Amino acid sequence: MAWISKNSGGMKIARRPEPYLTPEIKAHAEKHILPRYELRQGALIPVLHEVQHAAGWLPWQALEEVAQFIGVAPSEAWDTASFYEEFWLQPKGTHVIAVCRSIACEVCDHAAVTKAAKAKLGIEVGDTTDDGAFTLIELECLGLCEGAPACLVDETMHLNATPATITQAIDKLRAADSHGHAHGAHGHDHHDLKAGLEPWAKPKA
Ligand code: FES
Repeated sequence: MAWISKNSGGMKIARRPEPYLTPEIKAHAEKHILPRYELRQGALIPVLHEVQHAAGWLPWQALEEVAQFIGVAPSEAWDTASFYEEFWLQPKGTHVIAVCRSIACEVCDHAAVTKAAKAKLGIEVGDTTDDGAFTLIELECLGLCEGAPACLVDETMHLNATPATITQAIDKLRAADSHGHAHGAHGHDHHDLKAGLEPWAKPKA
């Protein structure tokens, strides 16, 4: 998630043998992404998107690999990825329930929607269910103020959300998953989510 700051001195980076920036992604980037930019650095964000799309999130190892590929310092890749909300710096669930918390939705009682989602999932905002199925977050304005309170359930907009509609949406996804039709937009690295977290990203006790 964005807006996480911490003292990184002495941090150990979890690594896996296989790269996140795979030869396939590199080849795709060289052919289809880099030619669009005058400077190689311009491709940083789209290449981060490619890696996140494949891995589901952006671990430190991935940020380092992309930084080296693009030719920027790892800290620059980190600065970029941590600035934008669409980049995930910790694993997320198969499904992401995102409730808008900005002013229009706040006035229209987004809190009741968040409360219902928390109760239904048994987690707090920012957490992922133990089975890796759902992550619950709150975001700033989704640009759907006319339908406040607004939510995104995976890629689907939910306008005029209520505790009942968010609960139904979660039930529907669970039912679809149990029938083997998981449609989550983020179907990667679901197992052992907590173990996969970077030290700074572990949920507060
Ligand atoms: S304030 Fe919630 S969508 Fe704009």
